[in-house]
Amino acid sequence: MDSHTNTIGLLTGSRRKNSFNGQLAKIAESMLEKQGQNVQIINWLDVPFFSQDDEFPTPEVVQKVRGEVMKCDVIWIFSPEYNGQIPGGEKNLLDWLSRGLKPGAERSDTAAYGRKVMLTTAGGRAAGFGVRKNLTLLCKAMGMTVISSEGIALSPESWSSDNVMKTPGVDEMLEGQIKTLLG
Ligand SMILES: Cc1cc2nc3c(=O)[nH]c(=O)nc-3n(C[C@H](O)[C@H](O)[C@H](O)COP(=O)(O)O)c2cc1C
Repeated sequence: MDSHTNTIGLLTGSRRKNSFNGQLAKIAESMLEKQGQNVQIINWLDVPFFSQDDEFPTPEVVQKVRGEVMKCDVIWIFSPEYNGQIPGGEKNLLDWLSRGLKPGAERSDTAAYGRKVMLTTAGGRAAGFGVRKNLTLLCKAMGMTVISSEGIALSPESWSSDNVMKTPGVDEMLEGQIKTLLG
C-alpha cells in the first residue's frame, strides 16, 4: 500500500468521555499524522437506533457518517468489550453501515463493503478477546477484511487513574498495527 495516500478512519466504540479506547484512538491519530497519513474521525454518537422503517429516506446523520466511512481506505475500530460482546451503540452503527445505500441495492453497495478494518480493544484481563472475536465475525459478514486485531489488558494503575498510558505496551501495540497497515 502507498504509505502517502491512505485515509484511515478512526472509530471509537465507546460513548464514554474519557474512554480508554478513545484515548488509544487519539494516540493512534497523532502517530498516523506524524507518519503523514490522512486521518478521518468517524463521528457516530448521534446515529439513531436502526429500524428498517427508517432506512429511506436515510437520516442525514447516517448519510454523514457513511460519507466519512466511504472516504477511508481502512477503518480502525477501537472497541470496549461489554459482557464479551460489541457494545450496543457500536453494533447499531455497524448495522447501519452494513445496509444498502439505495433501496434494492446490491449486497456490495454499502458504506462498509470491501473496506479494510483494524481492531483494537482495551479492557480487562482477557484484553477484549470476546469482542474482537465477535467484531471479526461481524466485519466479515459485512464484506470487510480484518487486517489486524490486537488487545491490551489494562493495568490496575490505568483502572485507578483512568489513564490508558499507565498500562505498559500501548505505544508498541499501536505502532505494530500501523506497521501492518502501511505494509
Ligand atoms: C455493561 C458493561 C459490561 C462490561 N463487560 C466487560 C467484559 O466483558 N470484558 C471486559 O474486559 N470489560 C468489561 N467491562 C469493563 C470495560 O472494559 C470498562 O468499562 C471500560 O472502561 C470500557 O471501555 P471504555 O473506557 O473505552 O469506555 C464492562 C463494562 C460495562 C459497562
